[in-house]
Amino acid sequence: MRHLLNPLDFSVDEVQYMLKLAQNIKNNPEKYSHVCEGKKLATLFYEPSTRTRLSFEAAMLNLGGKTLGFQSADSSSASKGESVADTIRVISCYADIAAMRHPKEGAPMVASLYSGIPVINAGDGGHNHPTQTFTDLLTILELKGRLDNMTIGFCGDLKFGRTVHSLINAMKRYDNVTFILISPEELAIPQYLKEELIAGNFKFKEVRQLEEVMGELDILYMTRVQKERFFNEEEYIRLKNSFILDSKKLNLAKKDCYVLHPLPRVNEIAVEVDNDERAAYFKQVQNGVYVRMALILILLGLDKVVEF
Ligand code: CP
Repeated sequence: MRHLLNPLDFSVDEVQYMLKLAQNIKNNPEKYSHVCEGKKLATLFYEPSTRTRLSFEAAMLNLGGKTLGFQSADSSSASKGESVADTIRVISCYADIAAMRHPKEGAPMVASLYSGIPVINAGDGGHNHPTQTFTDLLTILELKGRLDNMTIGFCGDLKFGRTVHSLINAMKRYDNVTFILISPEELAIPQYLKEELIAGNFKFKEVRQLEEVMGELDILYMTRVQKERFFNEEEYIRLKNSFILDSKKLNLAKKDCYVLHPLPRVNEIAVEVDNDERAAYFKQVQNGVYVRMALILILLGLDKVVEF
């Protein structure tokens, strides 16, 4: 039995295979519409979500399976004090695979130690969000035709943004990728990630202004300032408008510099940018369903049922 806790749990070859499977599902959805008949996915969400939870549910329904789950800690027995370990033991009696989101870093990993079914990390605190990363990789691959030889800018809350942490780690495995880290000092990437970039001799720089690097980027990965992870509301209010991408700033970018965002957006991308053909964040959302369909098939050992 295999879990997905960190994007690096899959080798580069395995990621390539999953993305290829996701693309085949995207091109031939009808071929996969019965593969998971009789299977159940449990969504265990201790933190709010729109995209991740609903795209997991859509993925399982598209595969012919069924779903069950809870949307918040308050509506589960976690509110009575039940542990993650006990919860996953129970869910293992009801479902074939589980996707878990939790505010505490490492909670899905703890669940995996006690689980009788594959556990997928659907976002753990400020740590990792592997299925968002696979979604991002598929979107970049489709837009640019490659995952290597590129300059990617990460802008916004790089301290708490788990999608940023996961995608940096995933992109480090491809040749000649340059990372440009655009944030206020208070929201810079965690020290351990910076040390890993230095130790691995990766090309990166930290800047405080988006405008000064726009022309260098092949991909701009915008992020929301993560209000829910601040201890101090005043600090959030001071930092929340640090970066706002509007059409004027995007006009400084290359014609094929695509803008990604894991969403939800608050105000860091002006709505006027949505009409620019380089705005790719809603394509990302759509790709999330195909990637999660591919992942469910792989973790359930059903990925070879349809030949491609
Ligand atoms: N991208 C993402 O994780 O969105 P949700 O919080 O809505 O799931």
